Amino acid sequence: MRYRLWRIVVFIAALLPPLFWLYQGWTFALGADPGKVLVDRLGLGALTLLLITLAMTPLQRLTGWSGWIAVRRQLGLWCFSYVALHLSAYAVFVLGLDGAQLLIDLRKRPYIFVGALAFIGLLALAITSNRFSVRKLGKRWKSLHRAVYLILGLVLLHMLWVVRADLEEWVWYATAGVLLLMLRIPAIAIRIHRLSLRTSERMTKSFQ
Ligand code: HEM
Repeated sequence: MRYRLWRIVVFIAALLPPLFWLYQGWTFALGADPGKVLVDRLGLGALTLLLITLAMTPLQRLTGWSGWIAVRRQLGLWCFSYVALHLSAYAVFVLGLDGAQLLIDLRKRPYIFVGALAFIGLLALAITSNRFSVRKLGKRWKSLHRAVYLILGLVLLHMLWVVRADLEEWVWYATAGVLLLMLRIPAIAIRIHRLSLRTSERMTKSFQ
């Protein structure tokens, strides 16, 4: 398999943060409300992984290195795993696995609906991220996977609703999302591709 070592490095890098947070929780190093800290960290981790996944195609276009694409699916699945853990931490630590508490919480925190919509979207992308689905869905696969930008919008709205007054961190995530979205605009994508071709031609000449 190509890029085996690179894939393993990415796997370990994505696995370590939740293991470390779990260890911190175990050793009472997460403060007075460890459950909430875990929910927040896993949510931010999932959003970060979503943005990193979306950066893989532009990076491949910019550098010409196909290693970025080789780890794109893995990163997307890691994003989904973090979301599943975010949801589980919410169900266990915030709701105490109490269904009635969920109904009360839904009235108190409507941003959970937005998060749930994003979760359903990510679930659909995770289920159809294999080769069989790519073949089976044909052109519809691309349209479906373009919905990732809508999902990103929902996640940013979900986060905005949570942080509200403290906007600084949110602005960084939203700016990264808008930049990545802009890089998908065909006119900009073509320019980046030409720029990378010109740079690699210049580098080849300087080595000759
Ligand atoms: C059913 C689905 C979801 C539920 C029930 C849920 C629940 C929550 C809750 C309760 C919080 C706030 C915790 C607090 O009070 O600090 C939160 C925050 C957050 N969630 Fe979700 N969420 C869901 C889906 C998602 C998804 C799909 C993502 C990302 C891909 C995500 C990313 C975030 C982020 C970034 C925050 C803000 C964390 C912070 O600023 O510290 N959530 N979520």
